[in-house]
Amino acid sequence: MGARFAADFSMPRPCVLACSAMLGLLAAVAPVHAADGAGFQPTPISTAPNRQDGLAAFAQLERVLLHPRCLNCHVPNAPLQGDFSRVHYPPVQRGADGKGVAPLQCATCHSTRNSPLQHAPPGLETDGKPGWQMPPEHMKMSWLGLKGAALCKVFREPATNGHRSLAMLEQHLVTDHLVAWGWEPGPGRALPPLDKAAFDAQVRTWIRNGAPCDATEPLRKSIGSTKAASTREVVDHLRAMAGVAGPQTDTPIPTSATSGASRSQP
Ligand code: HEC
Ligand code: HEC
Repeated sequence: MGARFAADFSMPRPCVLACSAMLGLLAAVAPVHAADGAGFQPTPISTAPNRQDGLAAFAQLERVLLHPRCLNCHVPNAPLQGDFSRVHYPPVQRGADGKGVAPLQCATCHSTRNSPLQHAPPGLETDGKPGWQMPPEHMKMSWLGLKGAALCKVFREPATNGHRSLAMLEQHLVTDHLVAWGWEPGPGRALPPLDKAAFDAQVRTWIRNGAPCDATEPLRKSIGSTKAASTREVVDHLRAMAGVAGPQTDTPIPTSATSGASRSQP
């Protein structure tokens, strides 16, 4: 979980050296993120959004968000377990990064894949390693005890949702492997009330209709950047500040295609 760059990224002027260093850093991290939802196209907001349709779609999303397959990690403190969201046994702690506190780090028990046995720890893989974790201490993304507009706003607002624009939120919901795990949770665990395709469709309906959370607030007019686009914006911005003329041909921004190509060169 690296730093995320919000769409309204800005940086103080005197940063030529720092910017160049950042460019290198971004070049290094970009390929990792490129794999995340490659080919994803965000849903635009309709020119004639319908608030009622948007609210009805969120009501369907809420049924999934509050289902144990999602809620068990989206809690204020320690994770919950099972279809009744009981306290996790053994008692584990979130830790600063959401990956636990030694010796009971999540990865100690949760491996890179689900166990075929009931009541054994589920697992999944992130970049070749065990990826099971909850959101970090500094942004808990907790939905416990919330519903309706209150839940919707915590879920939608960048300040509480991991700095995601609507486009990034859609990308996460539609393409993230941790979200997808909810529909492949291993034996003995109930599935969320909508299937994944229906869930994705409701995400799109909610966004297309201005992502409303209540009956009065203004509807959203912009979905903001996707993660890939905002990374590119940051890179372009830093290049401009570092006095590098763009668009570049000598040092292309790595995409899955170009990084594959550059890796094959000595
Ligand atoms: C194993 C724990 C775990 C489970 C289970 C889980 N999540 Fe998450 N979720 C996370 C983590 C970790 C993050 C933070 C990721 C980040 O910001 O990079 C997150 C972030 C999110 C976010 C962005 C935050 C927000 O409030 O908008 C959404 C949306 C989300 N998850 C949806 C879901 C849904 C839907 C499910 C169930 C189908 C689910 N999650 C199940 C761990 C989990
Ligand atoms: C000592 C082993 C162990 C450790 C360490 C551990 N877990 Fe678990 N966890 C389990 C077992 C076993 C289950 C399955 C229980 C069952 O299905 O009855 C489980 C289930 C879960 C579930 C419930 C999944 C679901 O939808 O029912 C969540 C969420 C979870 N663990 C999160 C975490 C997090 C987050 C960490 C690190 C902070 C962690 N666990 C550390 C053993 C562990």
